[in-house]
Amino acid sequence: MTDLLTVEDLRVTFMVNMGRDPLHAVDGVSFGLAEGESLGIIGESGSGKSTIARAVLSLLKISQGRITMEGREIATPQKHGKAGSYGVQIIFQDPHAALNPRVRIIRSLVEPLEIKGEGTASSRRDAALEMLTKVGINRALADRYPHELSGGQKQRINIARALLLRPKILVADEATAALDVSIQADILNLYRDLQEEFGLSFVVITHDLAVASYVSDRIAVMYLGKFAELGPSKALATTAAHPYTRALMSAEPEALPKHMQSTERLVLRGEIPSPVSPPSGCRFRTRCPIATERCAAEAPAWREMGPGHHAACHYAEEVMAGRPLTTPEPAE
Ligand SMILES: Nc1ncnc2c1ncn2[C@@H]1O[C@H](COP(=O)(O)OP(=O)(O)O)[C@@H](O)[C@H]1O
Ligand code: SF4
Ligand SMILES: [Mg+2]
Repeated sequence: MTDLLTVEDLRVTFMVNMGRDPLHAVDGVSFGLAEGESLGIIGESGSGKSTIARAVLSLLKISQGRITMEGREIATPQKHGKAGSYGVQIIFQDPHAALNPRVRIIRSLVEPLEIKGEGTASSRRDAALEMLTKVGINRALADRYPHELSGGQKQRINIARALLLRPKILVADEATAALDVSIQADILNLYRDLQEEFGLSFVVITHDLAVASYVSDRIAVMYLGKFAELGPSKALATTAAHPYTRALMSAEPEALPKHMQSTERLVLRGEIPSPVSPPSGCRFRTRCPIATERCAAEAPAWREMGPGHHAACHYAEEVMAGRPLTTPEPAE
């Protein structure tokens, strides 16, 4: 299967501390996204997930690498295009932000079509109403104002608004994080339906492994600007190759589907280090329960561990074979 979207060695650097220090928010990330595929990107806050989203949407200038869509170059350090024009739309975390509070829902829906100069006033309205039905919103709500709707309803309307522009890829950046768990599940089910109905591809960005595992064909685990592991969701659940992936799975077992539930209890020590001065060698080493001197000296290579399954750990074979990672209880 050829990829719809290709991200090659993406690097995004911000200058911080009054322009003195480079902060490598994304530090060499590569992946492809096939048509109709759903890729989850998980990682703690600050790991660089939203920066990848903004790069794919051409909302920022990339420092290195290349992003292509159906073979067409859409972003390099020299140029970036307009996301809508090459078929990528985004849904953000805050369902209120994207809807103008002063206009009725229908206005927010038809406006992007108007700007693009598509159809007539009545065909735009018909398309908007039809899309509302597809995302599970009663047409009667079209003449309401945003404050009259719930967070979940508003997020569905944001999805409808994005879909009206007929994207090939929908990027959801923590799009369900602000919603109650049951409503979150409804929206995730909607993603699945849309994936089937429109052959839409998804990039689902989340700090929540349960969300990623529910909707993703493949999952990328991100740590401090790099991917630690990327592979089919099932492979990650049964044979994770990176200690960080196993730590994430052990941190929230109840929320995960049965086949992903781990009995391991691995508590990560310390905080995520600053991306301005990441640890030498493997950047996970300051929190890794099995780190050795080699991990401080040598950055682990990105290695293929199975079909479509890659990880960056010197001891990935042992981790996959189930080497215990449980953190010893601290002495009293
Ligand atoms: N515009 C910016 N200027 C400076 N630093 C930024 C900017 N945007 C993001 N960062 C930094 O880049 C890192 C990655 O951020 P982000 O991509 O938002 O992470 P995530 O979405 O995983 O929480 C963080 O350390 C963040 O502080
Ligand atoms: S390379 Fe070393 S520090 Fe990094 S994840 Fe593997 S064992 Fe841990
Ligand atoms: Mg983010």
